[in-house]
Amino acid sequence: MTNRRPLIAGNWKMFKTCPEAVETAGQLVKLLSMTTDIDVMIAPPFTALAQVSDVVRGSCVSLSAQNLFWEAQGAFTGEISPAMLVSAGCKYVIIGHSERRQYFNETDETVNRRIKAAFDNDLIPVMCVGESEKERESKNTFSVLDKQLKMGLEDFSSDDLKRLVIAYEPVWAIGTGKTATSEQAQEVHKFLRSVLEKSFGNILAKSIRILYGGSVKPNNIAELMAMPDVDGALVGGASLDPETFSKIVHFRE
Ligand code: 13P
Repeated sequence: MTNRRPLIAGNWKMFKTCPEAVETAGQLVKLLSMTTDIDVMIAPPFTALAQVSDVVRGSCVSLSAQNLFWEAQGAFTGEISPAMLVSAGCKYVIIGHSERRQYFNETDETVNRRIKAAFDNDLIPVMCVGESEKERESKNTFSVLDKQLKMGLEDFSSDDLKRLVIAYEPVWAIGTGKTATSEQAQEVHKFLRSVLEKSFGNILAKSIRILYGGSVKPNNIAELMAMPDVDGALVGGASLDPETFSKIVHFRE
């Protein structure tokens, strides 16, 4: 048995204007008013963070950003610093999502810099890793994940990583309706934990939460959460509707 507290996270990606985000967050807070035994976070677009922060304050819902830039401030047009996220009310930040790796040149090295900046500013990084369909088919899943994890976490100590959250998101399962089976998810989560154990020791490996992401829905969450190394979910499409997302949060009922 472990004492890892489940975390259900909603990544809103590039969806929702400010009024839409406020409306959705307000409905979610109502639907989750009795929720106490689980951590919940939502990651609206940057533009809606400050307003959504006012809506979720005092509720069980925490706020996350979808990315950050590692510099503290400066002439970096279009970028957002860690301190800006903290001042907008963020507790978490998603880092290295496969869409950022695929479309915006995110690399393991930049993931590493962003994670460091998150820790330095007391933000909890949710570090995303995952293999593509081609990598899985060519049986490279484990080597790809091993590299992403080791390079992304290079030069950290086990003490630094206490608050880290990892999200395993197989690229072939994102937005496709193709969920990894709960056995496939468990196999990878167990592998990721073993890599963490080798690099940072057993105590840290056992305490880090590893979320699964990729077409998580109300009808598959319970099965995924029944796996011993699945500690939560990073939900995309199904987090946009408050009713649907609250059903995922209440997966035990
Ligand atoms: P979907 O749940 O829409 O497949 O997205 C998963 C995801 O990318 C969450 O970060």
